[in-house]
Amino acid sequence: MLNKKSPLPMYYQIEEDLKQKMSNGDYAPGDVIPSERELSELYRVSRMTVRQAITNLVNEDILYREKGKGTFVAEQKIEQPLQGLTSFTEDMKQRGMEASSRLIGFDQVEAPADVFRKLELNEGETVFRIQRIRYADEKPMAIETSFVPSRLVPDLTEDIVSGSLYQYVEGKLGYTIEKATQMIEATVADSRQSEWLEVPLQSAILYIERKTLLTNGLPFEVVKSAYRADRYKFVSDIYRG
Ligand code: GLP
Repeated sequence: MLNKKSPLPMYYQIEEDLKQKMSNGDYAPGDVIPSERELSELYRVSRMTVRQAITNLVNEDILYREKGKGTFVAEQKIEQPLQGLTSFTEDMKQRGMEASSRLIGFDQVEAPADVFRKLELNEGETVFRIQRIRYADEKPMAIETSFVPSRLVPDLTEDIVSGSLYQYVEGKLGYTIEKATQMIEATVADSRQSEWLEVPLQSAILYIERKTLLTNGLPFEVVKSAYRADRYKFVSDIYRG
């Protein structure tokens, strides 16, 4: 219940109460929450106050509205730490979810100019271009296009990249992945991305580019990916001094 004497604004207390109900399972992802009228009766506040709380939660992607149907609880975002150099398969496993992929492109090509430079390729060298939609428990999370020098993975097959690429290069080929540089930018889904990620056109997307090096400093992959911004948030610990 709300504390009318608290210095915390009423709408804020409602937000916190609704969040609490989501985290203790009273409201699960996909559930409709009570209407503004019902909530205003429940909390004994004006509908304006309730609307403010709901709008804030919608803006935070915690709730979403569907015209004519009501307001629903969104899937919780995956919190992705920015420290560890992990694979998609590992990330999902760590959260108790199952990773899978749909291969939408697999070929050997001349690298685009920027990739050619980043992978420090020699003239005439080709790369494997691997395009995958990545799923967590069968829900689309990201589209990834990986470029890997053919010289490093000459026997790569569609079958291999339908599973974990990192597992193959470390487990089977015996390479050690050492470090990566990653860049994250905001963008919106174009029509192909919205179809593959199953989100409305122009939805918020996190564009992530990673360049990964093996132990000897050898560039191993450049990956360009589009992550659903409604399913992901990135978290990092930062230190002062
Ligand atoms: C993450 C990274 C990619 C990397 C991939 C490997 O998604 N953003 O850069 O290629 O993991 O994942 P997996 O080993 O599951 O194929």
